[in-house]
Amino acid sequence: MSISTRPYEGPDDLRLMQQLCVEAWPSQWHVGDLAWDRFHRAGHEPEWRTTLWLEEGRCVAWAWFRQPEGELAFLVHPKRRELTAEVVLKEDARSTSALAEDTQTVAVLERAGYVATTADEPFMVRLVRDLADLVDPVLEQGYELRHSPELAARVAVHRAAWEPSRLTEESYANVMRAWPYRADLDCVVVAPDGSFAAFCLAWLDRENGVGEFEPVGTHPDHRRRGLATAVSTYALHRLREAGAHTAVVYARGDAAYPAAKLLYESLAFVQHVRTRTFTHP
Ligand SMILES: CC(C)(COP(=O)(O)OP(=O)(O)OC[C@H]1O[C@@H](n2cnc3c(N)ncnc32)[C@H](O)[C@@H]1OP(=O)(O)O)[C@@H](O)C(=O)NCCC(=O)NCCS
Repeated sequence: MSISTRPYEGPDDLRLMQQLCVEAWPSQWHVGDLAWDRFHRAGHEPEWRTTLWLEEGRCVAWAWFRQPEGELAFLVHPKRRELTAEVVLKEDARSTSALAEDTQTVAVLERAGYVATTADEPFMVRLVRDLADLVDPVLEQGYELRHSPELAARVAVHRAAWEPSRLTEESYANVMRAWPYRADLDCVVVAPDGSFAAFCLAWLDRENGVGEFEPVGTHPDHRRRGLATAVSTYALHRLREAGAHTAVVYARGDAAYPAAKLLYESLAFVQHVRTRTFTHP
């Protein structure tokens, strides 16, 4: 079978890359990661170089070189693992990451000259939870749960939670246009004054029945009142109604930033994989 490569040409190619995420699941990348990462930061598209490996019109590997960081994100179809060495050396990357549990990919990275960073460097864990048993969300009086938020207030609460943030109304409008964004999975807590106090954006990989949170946040003025817990619980219900049986979320796994992992563990998520960062000297 002949495999060709070509540069990324636009949103239709993101769909091909996301279809590979669906076929390769459970890999490092959920369809929601690609939609969010590609669009939420304003103005980066021209700096990135993305390459697709195609076989009979299907994407069997992709390499996404993120500048100015010099980071390589990549994915290879489990049936085309022989492409991994070529994919990870496609760009002159300074760093990349892989799931520590994916020993075959880790071995290829090491043979290609990548060096694993030390164990105490920042890393991400992916936590998982099945959606069979859900409790109802609980909110302090005056707060309300909603979905399908209005753009300006939605962007304002994200920017406050993730200060400093590169999200803009224009970039969030691009997120909303990206497949598989659904307004009914874009969940918020409305504060008594009508502003948004917390949010949880959920993405559904319908074929695998797996939903992902990316991202979650609470406005600094409203923290430690159970709002992230409530909006995430609400999003779990919405994912289940949309057909998901499992939810996943990434959080920092190292001790320097424990809040998010503690939040998800308190929601009955458990860690199942972690990332490892590699540098290329
Ligand atoms: C992490 C974050 C979403 C928590 O929001 P929140 O509304 O304050 O969270 P909750 O009140 O629902 O907290 C639920 C549990 O999470 C944990 N938690 C939340 N904030 C924490 C913190 N700063 N330190 C340690 N644990 C924390 C606690 O276990 C907490 O339960 P407790 O209050 O009974 O101890 C918020 O601090 C935030 O927006 N941070 C910046 C963005 C971010 O990191 N998002 C998550 C990763 S996608």
